[in-house]
Amino acid sequence: MNKALKNILERNSHRNLVDPIPSKDEMEQVFQAALRAPDHAWVRPSSFIQLSGAGLQKLSDTFVEVAKESFEDLTDDKIEKYKNAPFRAPLIVILVSTKKDHPKVPRIEQIISTGTAGQNIMLALNALGYGAIWRTGRFAFNEKISERLGLNDDQTIIGYIYIGTPKGKKKSLPKMNTEEYISVWD
Ligand SMILES: Cc1cc2nc3c(=O)[nH]c(=O)nc-3n(C[C@H](O)[C@H](O)[C@H](O)COP(=O)(O)O)c2cc1C
Repeated sequence: MNKALKNILERNSHRNLVDPIPSKDEMEQVFQAALRAPDHAWVRPSSFIQLSGAGLQKLSDTFVEVAKESFEDLTDDKIEKYKNAPFRAPLIVILVSTKKDHPKVPRIEQIISTGTAGQNIMLALNALGYGAIWRTGRFAFNEKISERLGLNDDQTIIGYIYIGTPKGKKKSLPKMNTEEYISVWD
């Protein structure tokens, strides 16, 4: 099978992620792939925050502070969960979509473009032999988190890509029946 197609067909999400993480050169390739995402009128809505080491601790502190400030259903267990969340992988890339004013490119298209950048990141990582999982939860699309991470009012966190080397058994992937999803008009 064609190698590029095989990379797409065999990509899957990994929850158990450990060291080693991609090198600086490999992340450069990953971000080049991200920035090759489709982008109406090249308005460049997408940017990325790469976190590891102390950066993960900062994210953990931010999750806990925002949860304490704004979640009404908070329990000790939940605080513990949010505190540990960023350490589920040794590297995280935060997907940020920045609203750009353009007469032909509405915000929704810009967010979709950042979503496709996210998928390009996942595919590039898979091609390089690393694993990843896209997560959102209560800390995505969250203005308080954005503010604390130094983003402005036009910037939205649309997701967190957790990255590392996959550990454990490979999961078996479902065989999809395209006929259930495709209608052909000819
Ligand atoms: C926008 C978006 C948000 C997601 N948020 C979460 C999440 O918060 N937690 C989670 O476990 N999976 C989340 N997922 C699902 C996983 O990233 C993954 O796609 C799913 O587990 C299916 O696995 P697969 O990619 O191996 O088919 C999200 C996926 C997308 C596209």
